[in-house]
Amino acid sequence: MPTYFRTRRGGEQVGLKRKGPRGVLITLEGVEGSGKTTQVQRLARLLREEGYRVLETREPGGTPLAESIRRTLLKSTGERMDPRCETLLILAARSQHVAQVIKPALDEGAIVLCDRFVDSTLAYQGYGRGLDVGLLRRLNRFATGGLEPDLSLLFDLPITTGLARRRHNNLEQNRLDRESRRFHTAVRRGFLELAAREPRRIAVFDGTKSAETLADDVASIVRRFLRRGGRTIGKPADS
Ligand code: TMP
Repeated sequence: MPTYFRTRRGGEQVGLKRKGPRGVLITLEGVEGSGKTTQVQRLARLLREEGYRVLETREPGGTPLAESIRRTLLKSTGERMDPRCETLLILAARSQHVAQVIKPALDEGAIVLCDRFVDSTLAYQGYGRGLDVGLLRRLNRFATGGLEPDLSLLFDLPITTGLARRRHNNLEQNRLDRESRRFHTAVRRGFLELAAREPRRIAVFDGTKSAETLADDVASIVRRFLRRGGRTIGKPADS
């Protein structure tokens, strides 16, 4: 079994370092209608064909309890949800998801593909809602126990294109889809700023490209990432 040890900066717990083998956490991020969910499915299929053990999951959600929090979060009711309430619900779902699903899968050496994760909180609740991004980073660490994505794929496109796509595909409009154009523009800017800050972790893709072209682009980045680490992670031990 791999073991983890905690790292500290100025007395604060900042991360979990791993000793021994561990899986890989790849997150897919983007504004509404960016096509990331299709890419999760395609990437999962491709990696499975190549012999990797893959877990597909999503946020908010991924466990029965976290999925019920998701329904609460996305439902439109007459009551305006306070941004702090929204944030804490998302983080509650995340802590459950990490503890019950993501961490056990990583401990077993799987590649975990997660449709949205910590960067969505920084972009939506930070840049979109205007909550303090530094505080949100600390809250994310609290919720995840310090677990961070190894690689993040950001699908970027103009918000009008993304929202129109969702309408066109007759996808149900949830509480967040109905937010103002200003909100979605701030979220998009947030994602791009996060990517500029961490170019080694976050790869940006042009979400206006076709699903096929995007899948090829994603495959080449992910293959390079897995090769670069010289990893056999996620592959059965005898392969
Ligand atoms: P999805 O429709 O892409 O599955 O995402 C559900 C919604 O939840 C989407 O509008 C973005 C929002 N969300 C946040 O606001 N903060 C978060 O941390 C996460 C994970 C999602």
